[in-house]
Amino acid sequence: MALLKIYHYPEQVLLEKALPVETIDETIIKLVNDMGETMFDAPGVGLAAPQVGESKRIIVYNPSPGASEDDEDTPQEFKALINPEIIASSGSITSEDEACLSVPDYSSDVKRFETVTVRGLNLEGKKLEFDAQGILAVIMQHEIDHLDGVLYIDRISALKRKMYKKKLKKRLENN
Ligand code: NI
Repeated sequence: MALLKIYHYPEQVLLEKALPVETIDETIIKLVNDMGETMFDAPGVGLAAPQVGESKRIIVYNPSPGASEDDEDTPQEFKALINPEIIASSGSITSEDEACLSVPDYSSDVKRFETVTVRGLNLEGKKLEFDAQGILAVIMQHEIDHLDGVLYIDRISALKRKMYKKKLKKRLENN
């Protein structure tokens, strides 16, 4: 396994609609395993393929995002979804200080659905459908958004987004 480079906003691959995976072959399985390792190393609770420069509809996530990161006895296991989609959603919650590995040094509250029904394939190509709630529902919405070129900063107020872009512009100019 290998750690992958994480792409940062405003790189083009993060702004594009990713392509569906046609065949789950060895290349895809290696990519997924590398994504899982990269996510835990970052550390993060979810990662989408466009974030590592691959315009493919793949996400990985930590199924127990609340578990202590310091607990080294608990093996960190990730789950992967191929071609995931949200087929139903309900309720409303505020995701507090939502952040993204592709949007460094920033976080913001984001309005999200409380419950989502997700459909996709696992790495074995088996069809899955499940409900996610709370933090897991937020992760699903955030990561599946990445597959459509949507970042969480697209879901905050226009004023906040403007302030973030101003800050980012300043930082890029100073580098
Ligand atoms: Ni993200």
